[in-house]
Amino acid sequence: MARYTQDFIDKVIEANNLVDLISQYTQLKPSGSNLMGLCPFPSHKEKTPSFSVSPQKQFYHCFGCKKGGGAVHFLQDYNGMSFPEAIEFLANRASIALPVENKAQSSMEDQERQRKKYLEKINELARNFYVKNFENLSKEHPAKVYLKDRGITAETIELFQIGYAPESWSSFSELLAQKKVNLPMAQDLGLIKLKSGGGSYFDIFRNRILFPIISPMGKTLGFGGRVLSKEDQPKYLNSPESILFHKSKTLYGLHETAKHILAEGYTLVVEGYMDLVSLYQSGVQNVVANLGTAFTADHAKLLRKYSKNVVLLFDGDSAGQMATERALPILLREGLSAKALTLPDNLDPDDFVKKYGKDELLKRISEAKDVFLWFLQKCLKSFQGNATEKVQILDQIFPVLDEVADYRLVNFYLADVAYYLEMDKKWLERAYIAFRKNDSNKKEQNLTVQERERVQNTGENTSDISKLDIKTALPEEIELANLVLAREDYLKKSLELNLHSVFVTESGKKMLQLIIDEYRQDSNDFARLGPSVLAKISPISLLTKHMDVSFYGDAEKASKLFQLCFQKLNKEVMKQKIRGFRQDLKVDGSSEDALKNMQSIFKKQNNKKEL
Ligand code: UTP
Ligand code: MN
Repeated sequence: MARYTQDFIDKVIEANNLVDLISQYTQLKPSGSNLMGLCPFPSHKEKTPSFSVSPQKQFYHCFGCKKGGGAVHFLQDYNGMSFPEAIEFLANRASIALPVENKAQSSMEDQERQRKKYLEKINELARNFYVKNFENLSKEHPAKVYLKDRGITAETIELFQIGYAPESWSSFSELLAQKKVNLPMAQDLGLIKLKSGGGSYFDIFRNRILFPIISPMGKTLGFGGRVLSKEDQPKYLNSPESILFHKSKTLYGLHETAKHILAEGYTLVVEGYMDLVSLYQSGVQNVVANLGTAFTADHAKLLRKYSKNVVLLFDGDSAGQMATERALPILLREGLSAKALTLPDNLDPDDFVKKYGKDELLKRISEAKDVFLWFLQKCLKSFQGNATEKVQILDQIFPVLDEVADYRLVNFYLADVAYYLEMDKKWLERAYIAFRKNDSNKKEQNLTVQERERVQNTGENTSDISKLDIKTALPEEIELANLVLAREDYLKKSLELNLHSVFVTESGKKMLQLIIDEYRQDSNDFARLGPSVLAKISPISLLTKHMDVSFYGDAEKASKLFQLCFQKLNKEVMKQKIRGFRQDLKVDGSSEDALKNMQSIFKKQNNKKEL
């Protein structure tokens, strides 16, 4: 980002009238030589106006909460913009071009910037089009009925600018053509697509409820489109990656919720559009949604701009638990203070707040556990106090501890581990130090020569913790993963059959979840699935078999392979369950219960859908 000269900054500030700016946030009325209104800051809820703006001084001041400053300060304090962002925002607002750093780069950069601006315009056009379409629907239209049935009010719809894409294949493309918009550029944004015969374009979003993804600076980055009926697939269609939209760096809702995060001092992270909108409407407004993608370091960095305190409120199902687990090392590494909350009965935040209300949710949030403790307790779930279990748990915990940025925290966490695992803390500390030595040796051994050079040059380790290690997955799990990456029909079948239930190893389960998550993000582009999964696992050599089309091309062979792997894994799952029951029998001797349970499990397994 360019550093702006004082001249430029002054020019930008002068070009914006503070009264106009603030009037967008609160209603101002003349009072003497100033204007007065209700304080717009969410942290200050007032009934009588104590917020004043001086047109002469271009200054605001609240007599109640003592906040005050100029336009830049207002944007920083209210929207959480950085100084350069506020300047950029105000420059755009006054149609002042941003300065370019030097002549040589300028024409390239100018072109880039022009292109970006143009794309932003197209997305804005699309957003308005979808919003208008929604507004013009009759009350009985399924899209209106759908949102109404889910309890979303007109006010919420307006605030989040939720729209509707009509069923027609061409109404948006036609509008673009009529406005002489550059159509290939609209295609880059994933809004329209050239027909296979060429010539004309068709609309990508059809008969869907559209959630625009708007940046804190007010730019429309992309869209998520939800189907109206359960039968339609995929449930959400998302804009593809583009110059404007980077999923791994974007959080949904910030445009409306940043100010509430600043006011509350912590951020709730949920997974879905609907979760965010529903929580917001219930009055829990300091929320962002990561849109079902894996949580990344860039997400963590973005969150840290608003608050160090984060509460993960992922769905109560196993996918949500896994997402929490995957986010854990990333949050710790970025030095965020994170808590995690598991909702009961597989409820998602939207279901929960509807069923139990806002106060119950807030109560649970206030009781949420530190994310590391959450993880420790998850590891302890079936812990019986055996030495071998202790070793296994330490193997899971040490790599996570290794990510903690604050060494004081490491110390406290070690104390917790020692307590719950009933071991001597001094010994545990020594074991941890030994692990760290061993681990850093291993990491270095695994690096290629080039990587090692880079590490030496930059002093940073390139081994990437955000990659999923699949070395310990079973061969059958790997085979099935390859198969579903090779053939979309098998991927769909796996979703129907809930393939998860037969995956045995932790890393196998995580691998399958990753594949499903990636697929859901971009389910209209199966060809992209393989590469995007490969980018997130290690070692990739295990999952490249799917690229050899001839291998899974033969329908009969593929079907046999699928059945074989499925059955083998199924057996393994049963074996594990029986082993579990044996342990139960030993522990509390309630053999009758165990037998009954076992019988019911066998029954369930036999009732499983025929393949
Ligand atoms: P969910 O399936 O939990 O959806 O996916 P939701 O947000 O709760 O929506 P409702 O309540 O069923 O209407 C969570 C998020 O994962 C992404 C979306 O961002 C969604 O909000 N997702 C889900 C996709 O991108 N594609 C899909 O097909 C499904
Ligand atoms: Mn939901």
